[in-house]
Amino acid sequence: MEIAPEPSTAHPWGDAPTPYEEVGGDLVVRALVEEFYDIIEAESPGLRAMLPANTSTSRQKLYEFLSGWLGGPSLYMERRGHPRLRLRHMPFDIGTEEADEWVRCMNQAIVAVGIEGPVATFLSSEMHRTAVGLRNRPDPGVIVPRIS
Ligand code: HEM
Repeated sequence: MEIAPEPSTAHPWGDAPTPYEEVGGDLVVRALVEEFYDIIEAESPGLRAMLPANTSTSRQKLYEFLSGWLGGPSLYMERRGHPRLRLRHMPFDIGTEEADEWVRCMNQAIVAVGIEGPVATFLSSEMHRTAVGLRNRPDPGVIVPRIS
């Protein structure tokens, strides 16, 4: 009889029941968001220009959203209703360059707060998938066929 190899982790993000618990819970999610916005403010003029002068509400909203999105308390939904991410990003010009830059800053924040291993890879790829889906501007040089 062949014995199936033990999977190395219970889920793609690791052994904890949720990615939220795997990263270390509320304090780590909060730290991740603070780090992410600090990085944008320090070194990403393109993204910085989209944000209000004071980013404390932007920070609070992303923290609340990520808490629920990662499987923790649904803070955003409880306080503000459905996030409707695509709709809420429509006022901003988001092409591949902006989406990639957003993910680059988030990846840097993931490393800075010490999230590592499978949950880091999982987070990064889910963030990337979501960011790509929020693009609302065709990239320069891409000819979109007109189907009549
Ligand atoms: C693709 C690149 C992205 C850009 C350029 C971008 C940019 C922005 C900007 C400018 C705001 C407004 C901030 C404010 O009003 O203070 C915002 C809000 C928000 N973003 Fe993004 N974002 C991106 C991707 C993402 C991703 C991938 C997520 C989730 C994983 C996300 C989650 C949110 C949330 C929850 C809000 C608050 C919505 C609200 O209640 O107004 N964003 N984003």
